[in-house]
Amino acid sequence: MRAAPDPLRPVRVEKRAVIRFLRGAGPMTKAYLRIKLRICPLLRAEAYFPDRGEFVDLGCGNGLFPAILKLGAPDRRILGLDLDERKIASARKALAGVPGLDFRAGDAAAFDFPPADVYSLVDVLYLLSFDTQDAVLAKCRDALRPGGRLIIKEMDTRPGWKYLWNFIQETIAVKIVGLTLGRRFYFRGRRDTLSRLRSLGLEASAVRLDRGYAYPHILYLAGKDGIK
Ligand SMILES: C[S@@+](CC[C@H](N)C(=O)[O-])C[C@H]1O[C@@H](n2cnc3c(N)ncnc32)[C@H](O)[C@@H]1O
Repeated sequence: MRAAPDPLRPVRVEKRAVIRFLRGAGPMTKAYLRIKLRICPLLRAEAYFPDRGEFVDLGCGNGLFPAILKLGAPDRRILGLDLDERKIASARKALAGVPGLDFRAGDAAAFDFPPADVYSLVDVLYLLSFDTQDAVLAKCRDALRPGGRLIIKEMDTRPGWKYLWNFIQETIAVKIVGLTLGRRFYFRGRRDTLSRLRSLGLEASAVRLDRGYAYPHILYLAGKDGIK
């Protein structure tokens, strides 16, 4: 199954603005954020999110993607959840005082999912076992308001060389350096991911975001009532 051709929605948030916005972040966090922005098309992904509503970003890390969402459209109210209490503390410090942004420490697998217009997971699913992935996605679906969206940024398993490169990098980041909490990886390819989302009763499509990157970045857009 082929992904839909990348409609290349224009990027509307500048890298420099993101770093400025995360003014309370420490120098190490800022250095990490700069690298992440260089190797991951988060700014491109932002353009696929609605401009208003209540959002929940599961596995928000140190607040980078919630910050990008907020810069893209100030009417978005975003709750970020992450298992790692240090990252939540860092997000709160970096973005202190920004209205409509809230951060909470907790496990997405044991979270009481509030009703929301958008649920997102950015480079998180692969850290959850396949059973946990299915359970979390089903909970997102149940918590989505009418017209709501589930938006997932992940890595595809193709092309093979990009998948291999990503696997090596993740092994270093998660298992050797310990940048991210996790023990094993559970990557699903595009075909499998789309069929899982559809089996939950969601309409789903994929947008390749890997052009110009050495990683197989892919974005899944899903919704109960269509995904226009
Ligand atoms: C690769 S990082 C991505 C962080 C962020 N989404 C970003 O793109 O900058 C994966 C994040 O998922 C978080 N995570 C892993 N398992 C989780 C779980 N069960 N519940 C909540 N967060 C989790 C990790 O702590 C980590 O911050």
